[in-house]
Amino acid sequence: MKILDAEFVQGFIRMANDGWEQGWHERNGGNLSYRIKPEEVESVKENFKPKEWQPIGTSVPKLANEYFLVTGSGKYFRNVIIKPEDSICIIEVDGKGENYRIVWGLVNGGRPTSELPSHLMNHEVKMVASNGAHRVIYHAHTTNVIALTFVLPLEDKVFTRELWEMATECPVVFPDGIGVVPWMVPGGREIAVATSELMKKYDVAIWAHHGMFASGEDFDLTFGLMHTVEKSAEILVKMLSMQPDKRQTITPQNFRDLAGDFKVALPEEFLYEK
Ligand code: 13P
Ligand code: ZN
Repeated sequence: MKILDAEFVQGFIRMANDGWEQGWHERNGGNLSYRIKPEEVESVKENFKPKEWQPIGTSVPKLANEYFLVTGSGKYFRNVIIKPEDSICIIEVDGKGENYRIVWGLVNGGRPTSELPSHLMNHEVKMVASNGAHRVIYHAHTTNVIALTFVLPLEDKVFTRELWEMATECPVVFPDGIGVVPWMVPGGREIAVATSELMKKYDVAIWAHHGMFASGEDFDLTFGLMHTVEKSAEILVKMLSMQPDKRQTITPQNFRDLAGDFKVALPEEFLYEK
């Protein structure tokens, strides 16, 4: 099968374009990766032309021999839909989880996203935590969440609670909460380690003054998660723009009642009295 005809490639391209249309991907901002299923690799591997091995910059032994579809470094999300072969690539991880090689794509040269260490370390953590179910890691420059990182304390419990309060669906969509990474230099192992540590507990991590990482089982769930968190942040920005305090809100007891009916476990650490 031609690579571009494969359903997982079509889904990846659509998600990248959806993110562009949301306004989360100025210039080359953001990146996306998908851990390809063995049967999907089989269906397209006749097209693979492996290039030379390169260091990942970190170690992901549990991802040995896995294949990923990834956006290219410096590539624009708005171009993925019109020139996918130039904008994205498939990489293979070696048997030790320390090197990768491009086997398809980036036809005009280049390399996978500079955030590859964060993507792969997050994939490793989430693959283990979900028994293999999570396959998508998404990084976007979500405007309202970024704005909030200038005014809220950079604490998991504050971001989780404030975003839960802004839309009733939020605690159902991200019941485990949200982690926050303080400002760090992007693109390297250090921020990857900090993010993947939070991803052991959460499906979403905020990078202060930068953006967000989300993890999920498929493109719909992961895009939907990013969209829900960012929408909630937009409501909070609007609310704070009208007045500094809420006149009424969803209370800790309301959350407990919701958790019972919707059969989600909401950790008490986020249901503190203010
Ligand atoms: P890349 O173009 O290397 O993917 O980087 C974009 C980005 O958002 C860095 O955090
Ligand atoms: Zn970024």
